[in-house]
Amino acid sequence: MVKKYVFGNPVNTEAVVENIPAQKGEIEVLTFDRQEQKFIYDMKEDTKVYGLGEANRGINKRGFKYVSYCSDEPSHTEEKESLYGAHNFILIDDDKQFGIFVDNPGKVTFDIGFENRNQIIIAPKYMDMSVYVIEGSSLNDIVKNFRKLIGRSYIPPKWAFGFGQSRWSYENEQSITDVAKGYVDNDMLISSIYMDIDYMESYKDFTVSEERFPEFKGFVKQVRDKGIRLVPIIDAGVKIERGYDVYEEGVANNYFVKDIDGKDYVTAVWPGLTHFPDFLNKDAREWFGNKYKVLMDCGIEGFWNDMNEPAIFYSQNKLDEIREKILEIDENTDDEKILDLRWRFNELANNKDDYEAMYHNMDGRQINHDRVHNLYGYNMTRAAAEAFERLEPDKRILMFSRSSYIGMHRYSGIWMGDNCSWWSHILLNLKMLPSLNMCGFLYVGADIGGFGCNSSEDMVLRWMALGVFTPLMRNHSALGTRNQECYNFPCVKDFKQILEVRYRLLPYIYSEYMKAALNDDMMFRPLAFVYEDDKMAAGVEDQLMLGDDVMIAPVYTQNADGRYVYLPENMTLVKFMEEGAVYSEKLQKGIHFVEVKLNEVIMFVREGHKIPVVKKSVIEDKMLRTKIMDCSIEYKKDDYEYIGEPDSSYEYKLYTDDGMTRKYEG
Ligand code: GLC
Repeated sequence: MVKKYVFGNPVNTEAVVENIPAQKGEIEVLTFDRQEQKFIYDMKEDTKVYGLGEANRGINKRGFKYVSYCSDEPSHTEEKESLYGAHNFILIDDDKQFGIFVDNPGKVTFDIGFENRNQIIIAPKYMDMSVYVIEGSSLNDIVKNFRKLIGRSYIPPKWAFGFGQSRWSYENEQSITDVAKGYVDNDMLISSIYMDIDYMESYKDFTVSEERFPEFKGFVKQVRDKGIRLVPIIDAGVKIERGYDVYEEGVANNYFVKDIDGKDYVTAVWPGLTHFPDFLNKDAREWFGNKYKVLMDCGIEGFWNDMNEPAIFYSQNKLDEIREKILEIDENTDDEKILDLRWRFNELANNKDDYEAMYHNMDGRQINHDRVHNLYGYNMTRAAAEAFERLEPDKRILMFSRSSYIGMHRYSGIWMGDNCSWWSHILLNLKMLPSLNMCGFLYVGADIGGFGCNSSEDMVLRWMALGVFTPLMRNHSALGTRNQECYNFPCVKDFKQILEVRYRLLPYIYSEYMKAALNDDMMFRPLAFVYEDDKMAAGVEDQLMLGDDVMIAPVYTQNADGRYVYLPENMTLVKFMEEGAVYSEKLQKGIHFVEVKLNEVIMFVREGHKIPVVKKSVIEDKMLRTKIMDCSIEYKKDDYEYIGEPDSSYEYKLYTDDGMTRKYEG
């Protein structure tokens, strides 16, 4: 079912958890071009290709070139080939169906019918790798086999399924208190508030500014008592500053990434000049992971890891080069030299020369960063997750990362990085969900409302109506953009309503998440995976199946009164409306225009199915508020009503557990 082929001398990425003996000979399903060192597959006119996780463009990846090289890419326009993650799994749906996983942590190019419309060309920069060919009886089955190969997906605490509000930055106690108040006073549900880089002292990891948070531990508790958890950010770069313990210890123990001569490599990120911890080194991982304890001791139960591609604003080397060039300028300098300077400035950030100049100590073996670039964020996050297990063996800690590689899905979730307040990014958010699920990443979500650019009320409402279904539901925005907290728009009532839909659906969302995690399944599937013989379903790129019972089809265009939806079978349209009303209508297989107001959420329940939602009266019960928000509430049978076909004999199996410990039922 799974065949492994080894090329060169690969490092152990630990992406895979099963020990599979390597095959001898060529990969049967691909042609190897020995001269060009690339793999080729000839597609037919109707061949489809899925996978690649966090990547640009469609659910069907055909027609573009994708480059696996974790990148700090803040502008997700259509031509971008690399984003933050490197997820080298593709699923080819041809006469034969099979998956390919290229376990290679260096740069790998997947040209899926771009240069030549009918060819897949897989071109690794370095030929040291393992390639896995995964077979199965259906698209779903192949994904399941692949997921078994790479191990069980990360399971967050249940409260991480509540709504979170974030912004760069709520920089002091007052601003966080204001956000909490904004939600609570407006009777809106919220479970977490995120702390961006400004909570720290000079952007130093594992510090909290005493000036802005004089009583941090007490403050965490004060917010927690309202039912809200605080979730701080941790960045990859460690500030170079004498006397700062993380810096001093890192230098003393050789825990930082080096240059060719063994000197700690100097780059700059938010804190100014920094060193990068060598997360590929076991001892450095353990050391850095233990640092999270500082914040856990203050009552923190979740984190997000950022800038871990790693993002580089500039390096000392590159800056020195530019400085020299500037000093050479005088009144006689020709234009070409000046222009050259301009390009040099433009190319300071995330420069490939820096990635090629850094070295890791992978447990005794010196290895150039560029060859293992895609393992960096993965191992930063693994460092944290392994420490959580040591420090809190029984407790689930929330963790999601910006950069990732397959294997990291066992340790955390991801968010989709710095998107923009563009309508097209609502759709991109939707398209990434199944692709990420194929690669093991289940706890995922995008910055709702958009990170960059100003958002409008209607856009945030529409985005939230997709966000109610994603495991990570977080509104986040960049410094300098319009405030997009739900209470900052005139129609607070509409936001309140959509948030209530999330909490009414939460037991179902959690149940579907857990089933997917425990059974190596996808939570979100393209329609093509469920209706394999339906040609129309195969082309649908703006609707998804959620679990076994539901189809989602959010509105993602401006000024729309609703949208066209394709139903691959008879389904019940369920519309969550004003005042918590739930409208249901049975619709026939085929195409329908469904009206959806800005304050409504729609979903479709499959024929004969029903799913539980929490009753409006329960969600609105003031006495239960705090417990609903911190997700500690245990609903009773009577607290649910059923939507879809409530009178059918279908038995939905609701998965429940304590949501806190690692004692999963399965
Ligand atoms: C990066 C992150 C973003 C964060 C910002 C400041 O751009 O992707 O989420 O707000 O850094 O820390």
